[in-house]
Amino acid sequence: MSQCRRASVWRRPGGSAKVSDEHQPVNLELFDDCVPEPVQQELAPGAVLLRGFVAEQDGAVLGAVDAVLASIALRQMQTPGGRPMSVAMASCGELGWVTDRHGYRYERSDPDSGLAWPPMPEILSRLAMRAAAAAGYPGFLPDACLINRYAPGARMGLHQDRDERDMSQPIVSVSLGVPAVFLFGGLRRAERPQRIHLRHGDVVVWGGPSRLRYHGVAPVKAAQHPRLGQQRINLTFRKAG
Ligand code: SIN
Ligand code: FE2
Repeated sequence: MSQCRRASVWRRPGGSAKVSDEHQPVNLELFDDCVPEPVQQELAPGAVLLRGFVAEQDGAVLGAVDAVLASIALRQMQTPGGRPMSVAMASCGELGWVTDRHGYRYERSDPDSGLAWPPMPEILSRLAMRAAAAAGYPGFLPDACLINRYAPGARMGLHQDRDERDMSQPIVSVSLGVPAVFLFGGLRRAERPQRIHLRHGDVVVWGGPSRLRYHGVAPVKAAQHPRLGQQRINLTFRKAG
C-alpha cells in the first residue's frame, strides 16, 4: 500500500470526512507530490468502492475461508451452455449459487455431495454487514456467500446478478489475494464498463439503482500474494432467498 493511500480520509455517506479509525493520522503535507486516493469512492449511484476495508482483519477473514474450504471443495461448474467456468467456486451460508446444464440458481445443499453448505462464519457475515452499512445499506443480512477462486488467467464475463429474490438488497464483493481488474458496466450489456483495479482487502458494494449493473473480471494476471500465492479469492455476499 502506498503512502498516498494511507493519507486518505474516511468519508461517511452524506457525512463529513474524518481520519479513518484504522489508520494513523498522517501529515498530508508529506505527500504533496501525490493525490490521495479516496478510501470511499462512488462508482455509480448506489455503487461504492471501499478501499482497504478488510484492513487488518484480513488474516482472520482468510482463516475463516480456509476453515470453510476444509469442508467443501472448490469446483469449476458448467455454464447452462455446457462450458466449464474458469473460476472455481464453493459456497457457505444457507444458500449456495450453482450453475449446470439446468441453469443458474441457488440451492440449499451442495449438488455434488447432497449435504447442506457449511455455515457462514460470523466474521464473514459481520464484515459484509459492516461494508453494506458503510456503503449506505444498513440492515443487510446475507444468507449466501460465494467463494470464487481465480488462478492466473481466470476471468468472469460480463453478467448481471439476477438470481436473488429481493433486488432491494445489495451485493457485497470482497477481494483478497492478487489484484484484478473489476469491470463495472451499465444496465445494458453494450455499455462500456469502468475498469476498477481491485487489491487485497478492497470491497465493492452495489445496490439500489446500480443493483442490476453488468459486471465481470478481466483475466487475472500472474502475480504473487504473500498469503494466497498466485490466487485471487473473491467473496460475494448476497441476500438470495
Ligand atoms: C461475481 O460477479 O460473482 C464475482 C465478481 C468478482 O470476482 O469480483
Ligand atoms: Fe456477479
